[in-house]
Amino acid sequence: MKTNHIITGDACHVLPELPDAAFQAIIADPPYYNVLTGEAWDTQWPSEEAYLTWSLQWVRECMRLLKDDGLFFCFGQLGKREHVFIHLMSRLCAEFQFHDLVIWDRAVGYNERRDSFTPAYEMILVLRQSQGGDRVKFIKDAVRVPYDEQTIAAYLKDPRYKNKAARHQHLQAGKYATNLLRVPSLKGASKEKCGHPSQKPAALIEKLILCSTDVGDTVLDAFLGSGTTAAVAQTLGRQWVGVEVNPHYVEMANQRMAGLLQM
Ligand SMILES: C[S@@+](CC[C@H](N)C(=O)[O-])C[C@H]1O[C@@H](n2cnc3c(N)ncnc32)[C@H](O)[C@@H]1O
Repeated sequence: MKTNHIITGDACHVLPELPDAAFQAIIADPPYYNVLTGEAWDTQWPSEEAYLTWSLQWVRECMRLLKDDGLFFCFGQLGKREHVFIHLMSRLCAEFQFHDLVIWDRAVGYNERRDSFTPAYEMILVLRQSQGGDRVKFIKDAVRVPYDEQTIAAYLKDPRYKNKAARHQHLQAGKYATNLLRVPSLKGASKEKCGHPSQKPAALIEKLILCSTDVGDTVLDAFLGSGTTAAVAQTLGRQWVGVEVNPHYVEMANQRMAGLLQM
């Protein structure tokens, strides 16, 4: 299988062409269903049911493409009252093995609702192969969260720890990350922005790739958009394949990769 390239096409047609168990991690940030109402790619289904049927079709392919010890990450947004992702999670968990539900805390709300709390998170459903169980590849040490110097200094005062050097080294490694990932969403003026309406921050995708793959492993993004997964995977020394149906976004992602390779 050719890696480190973008395949232009519909995920439902492209994924069936790829070989079984080819990917250590799969990231999917699919259309949400009528959340981005100005985008044709998010409003293309006549009903929720049609969207759910379509979703099951491509997720089944992704699960076929996932290695036995691999992880599949599927983004979904709820914040604007759309509950379709809850139905999707329910159907996916009935058919596949639930592994985790990660919350992406976007830090800044969308400021869209006057009648409820301001939406500020997205969800990432994590599935594994049913036989994967406790042998899933998950590298907790790769996504530790550093303590700040003040916290380290305070913890070092704890009299229970006699070996201060060992304690310091332990604290320097940081703490295990929770499944609540706080990564600010990209501001309009961010240098990272490529012009895609739902571009994910590289720092968020980095956590998903770091926790689920080693250098040299291969990552698939079934809805590549502006190429965030490809850019992060390339930077981290992973192999990658991206699928994107819109030639304009393929061009955007290719330009992003070309810029990365020149650096
Ligand atoms: C939520 S966006 C992904 C954004 C991406 N994570 C990023 O950081 O830029 C979803 C993408 O799926 C693409 N798309 C929609 N339907 C598709 C299909 N059937 N096959 C492949 N890509 C599709 C859209 O063009 C859009 O770029």
